[in-house]
Amino acid sequence: MTGIELLPAGMVHAALLAGMHAVCFAEPWSARSMAEVLNMPGTEGLIAVDGGSLRPGGTAPGPAGLVLWGRVLDEAEILTIAVLPPWRRRGLGGVLLRAAMDAAATAGAASMFLEAAADNVAAVTLYGRHGFERVGLRKGYYGGIDAVTMRRHIGPVIIQP
Ligand SMILES: CC(C)(COP(=O)(O)OP(=O)(O)OC[C@H]1O[C@@H](n2cnc3c(N)ncnc32)[C@H](O)[C@@H]1OP(=O)(O)O)[C@@H](O)C(=O)NCCC(=O)NCCS
Repeated sequence: MTGIELLPAGMVHAALLAGMHAVCFAEPWSARSMAEVLNMPGTEGLIAVDGGSLRPGGTAPGPAGLVLWGRVLDEAEILTIAVLPPWRRRGLGGVLLRAAMDAAATAGAASMFLEAAADNVAAVTLYGRHGFERVGLRKGYYGGIDAVTMRRHIGPVIIQP
């Protein structure tokens, strides 16, 4: 994607990530929670920075999106993903999702798991468009709203002898 750079997220970015989260979620993670997540073994993340070309009508460079994922052995999970409102519907969510899948697969993950509120049409549609299939439903998981769980294969295909 022209003009977008994906930078590794680290502890030093906890406050920035929390600020972005606060814009994107009704129940955002605090900088402290963000730091705790980043500190968990197997957690990695990326921050999408727009050099100024993508934002419609604007030239100011700045952070545009984030994705954090965790990996335990061959299982990876999207912990959070978000695109700031001015950058939405321009393909950035897909870029972040694919980058997380590629990085997790390179690190040894064979599958990626995630969950989303069943009424989060943007997220569920994005995930479906990128090959995730529904594997479960957690009734009332988000304060009365169901959560859908989704998974897709991301690692090498193992051919049984
Ligand atoms: C979900 C989110 C990350 C999508 O980011 P995005 O950059 O807009 O996604 P993309 O532009 O890559 O969208 C890819 C496809 O997903 C689907 N999609 C994205 N937003 C959609 C919406 N609001 N309604 C319906 N479909 C949507 C479309 O099929 C879209 O393709 P199209 O634009 O060609 O139709 C973004 O809406 C967001 O940050 N939401 C708030 C945080 C959040 O809910 N995160 C997920 C928690 S599980």
